[in-house]
Amino acid sequence: MIKFLDLQKITQRYESELHEAVLRVVDSGWYLQGSENERFERHYAEFIGCRHCVGCGNGLDALIWIYRAYIEMGIMQPGDEVIVPANTYIASILALTENGLTPVLAEPRPDTLELDDSQLDALVTERTRSVLLVHLYGRCAYTERIARFCQHHHLKLVEDNAQAHGCRTADGRRTGSLGDAAGHSFYPGKNLGAFGDAGAVTTDDAELAATVRALANYGSQKKYVFQYTGRNSRLDELQAAVLDVKLRHLEADNEARRRIARIYMDGLRNPLVTQPVALPDPMNVFHLFPVFCDHRDELQEYLHQHGVQTLIHYPIPPHKQACYRQWQALSLPVTERIHRQELSLPISQVMTAEEATEVVRLVNAFAVTNNNCSET
Ligand SMILES: Cc1ncc(COP(=O)(O)O)c(C=O)c1O
Repeated sequence: MIKFLDLQKITQRYESELHEAVLRVVDSGWYLQGSENERFERHYAEFIGCRHCVGCGNGLDALIWIYRAYIEMGIMQPGDEVIVPANTYIASILALTENGLTPVLAEPRPDTLELDDSQLDALVTERTRSVLLVHLYGRCAYTERIARFCQHHHLKLVEDNAQAHGCRTADGRRTGSLGDAAGHSFYPGKNLGAFGDAGAVTTDDAELAATVRALANYGSQKKYVFQYTGRNSRLDELQAAVLDVKLRHLEADNEARRRIARIYMDGLRNPLVTQPVALPDPMNVFHLFPVFCDHRDELQEYLHQHGVQTLIHYPIPPHKQACYRQWQALSLPVTERIHRQELSLPISQVMTAEEATEVVRLVNAFAVTNNNCSET
């Protein structure tokens, strides 16, 4: 069986360091808002290239707190519009609607799958306050044109860096440091994954960082004094200690992912299966390896029968979800095609070259037949 993601094996790889870190926290008797948080936040801010990092409960909260902070700071107000790619994980959109902001869904470019910057001019209105840029699949979605557009219209450029820890622009800057603020998820399956839910906000803006920190701590900056109606959404000491260990290995882990991706990119040549346009190495950390196929479900079933686990990211686009009934009539053909055709092949830092070569062999042998599940 070739697993989609073998988290047990990933943990085993750093077992002694992780055991030491976890035991250190257990033995310390201090489990929240302590030195582990402080250390990880410092290291992650340095890694991303930002002045501030604020740990929080998860990636969705990180994005919610950024926009809530902008509202508290008087920079945005409910009803304002935020341009966001239509093909994203629903959390990017939930973070906006949770704050009473209006998502304006933008189609991606069919070749890169990232926000189509040529559409921005058509989407901007008097109420637009921000662009939420999502580095989906681990691919850098930043373009100079997006940055110029935000500057020109005085919009906050916020990054959803949940899937792209360690990714860089063509000129070497890290995603998560490119705009005004970024939300990061450390969900266990991410490139930098915790042992449970965890997230962070990075920014150079001291006021934003302080407001986010307060919001995630019941709205309090000073004990028992409450400035905002916040919530409890903090990064705990155990997760911070685990993340600090895994952060040391992130660059090597991303390199290992790139080696697997290279085997796929060089080897896949089934005309029924296409790939997004390749990016220069630093611009892709291959959180996922998406391929596209008109016979996606058959391909998935065929790979399953041959012992290869795959996943679909994502089967239903946000505008077709029951929670956003108001968008049911929207037509976003590029997004809808992506959701119809996308299949994510297994990829991780512990996958072997032999496993990737076997996946390539199987995908190349896939053909559509009467029973739709044949190896030729
Ligand atoms: C693009 C994107 N944004 C936001 C999130 C939300 O992160 P979390 O699961 O930590 O809430 C995720 C991951 O789940 C994601 O993939």
